[in-house]
Amino acid sequence: MNDVKKLNQIYEGKAKKVFATSSPDYFIVEYKDDATAFNGLKHGTITGKGIINNKMSNAMFALLESKGVKTHFVEQLSDRETLVRAVKIVPLEIIIRNVAAGSFSKRYGVEEGRELKCPTLEFSLKDDALNDPLINDSHIIALGVATEQELAQIREMAYKVNEVLKEFFAGIGVKLIDFKIEAGRLPDGEIILADEISPDTCRFWDAKTNEKLDKDRFRRDMGGVEEAYQEIFSRINKK
Ligand code: TMP
Ligand code: ASP
Repeated sequence: MNDVKKLNQIYEGKAKKVFATSSPDYFIVEYKDDATAFNGLKHGTITGKGIINNKMSNAMFALLESKGVKTHFVEQLSDRETLVRAVKIVPLEIIIRNVAAGSFSKRYGVEEGRELKCPTLEFSLKDDALNDPLINDSHIIALGVATEQELAQIREMAYKVNEVLKEFFAGIGVKLIDFKIEAGRLPDGEIILADEISPDTCRFWDAKTNEKLDKDRFRRDMGGVEEAYQEIFSRINKK
């Protein structure tokens, strides 16, 4: 893949930039240290985050590929840059929760940390102007966001990702509380896992102490943000 050249930027999100390449089949993503929360209301920098999220996401995608989940990951190019397959993102935040936390706890009045009887799946429509509203299966199909068949694939993929990641993180003394993933469509319509898997997009609690090792430390002004990202990353690397 050394012959694929980075071309113009086609998108800039809150935590990543996406570049076209000399091949229509590939994009290059570049991870930033920028952090936002509450739909961009809160801004900051988490020094070194881009490097950790890039390397960690790639490690998670490689693990998931080895367990049969197709992902956009192709090859890490540098500390912050990765070559990925070009997909069109399905505009959904696909969220799995094992333990109540965050907006789920708020919405249903459930204390953070309560173990759920089964993993739950929920969707939000990716639309900043609307504040990423919750959306149900019927709405998704009715609006043409995804077909019924695609939704079935997304559901299956999300639960499989949960099983693989839960087991992996348990092995490094970390509880996977919840996470958000995104799905992409290849030109032939196939659905694959895209975006990132990092402390920005997952909640990780230390299995013994319940210490938060994720972006909630930034969202909630808890301090020790960089250290939390480094702690998760170093546990992954020791494995
Ligand atoms: P929530 O409890 O705030 O809805 O978040 C659920 C999970 O999704 C949590 O692991 C953080 C992640 N997440 C994102 O990756 N991006 C977002 O914009 C939001 C709101 C949550
Ligand atoms: N990244 C999201 C935002 O800025 C939210 C979050 O991760 O809490 O809105």
